[in-house]
Amino acid sequence: MKVTFRIQRYNPEKDAKPYFQDFTLDGLEGTYRVLDALHDIKWKHDGTLTFRRSCAHGMCGSDGMKINGRNTLACSLLLQDIKGIGDGKVVTIEPLPYLPIIKDLVIDTTDFFKKYELVKPYLIVKTPPPEMERYQSNEDAELSYEIPSDGNVRITITDPLGREIRTVQTGFISAGKHSISIDESMLSGGTYFIRINAHGITAFQKFIVIK
Ligand code: FES
Repeated sequence: MKVTFRIQRYNPEKDAKPYFQDFTLDGLEGTYRVLDALHDIKWKHDGTLTFRRSCAHGMCGSDGMKINGRNTLACSLLLQDIKGIGDGKVVTIEPLPYLPIIKDLVIDTTDFFKKYELVKPYLIVKTPPPEMERYQSNEDAELSYEIPSDGNVRITITDPLGREIRTVQTGFISAGKHSISIDESMLSGGTYFIRINAHGITAFQKFIVIK
C-alpha cells in the first residue's frame, strides 16, 4: 500500500508559521503503525522531523498527536484501523491542539503538568515504596487525591479498552485532600484503570485485581 503522510512542520527559529510537508511511503502493510511511519521518515527521509515517543506500546502517552483530525497515540494506531485507508490515501498528522508548539509535533506540556500537579489525579499511597512491586489487599484499596479548589470530580473504573465498569464517585467536591475506598470484591480478576476527571484534567491509574 502506498500512503502519503502529510505532516505539520514548524521550526519557530526559521518558520513564520506552521506548514504541511508530504512524505509518501510505499509497500506498507495494514499492521504498520503511524509511529513506524514517523520513524521511517525521520531515519530515511528527513532527520530534522521532530516528535516525542518513549515506550512505543501505548503506555506512556508521549506520542499523543492529532491524526486525521483525532487526538490519539501514534504507536497505537495501525494503518488498517484508519477509516478509508488504501492505496494513495493521505494521513494528516498534526501536534495536539491548544498547546504551544516547540517544534513540529512536539508541544509544550509545562502548563498541562502544572495543572496536573495541582490536581494530583493519581493514587497516593501512605507508605514508602517497597523494593519490588507493591501488593495491595482489598482493605488497602483506598484512593487518595487532592484538588486545589472546589469543583466537579468524576472517578470511574474502566476496562483496558476504556469501557466504564463502575462509577466510584461523581459530584461537586470541596478543595483539599480526599480519599475513597475501591471495593474490589465487585470486580472479577483482571486489569482495570481508575479514571479521575477533575478541573478538566483526566488521568488514569492502572491496577490489577487478582482472585
Ligand atoms: S510511545 Fe508511549 S504511548 Fe506511544
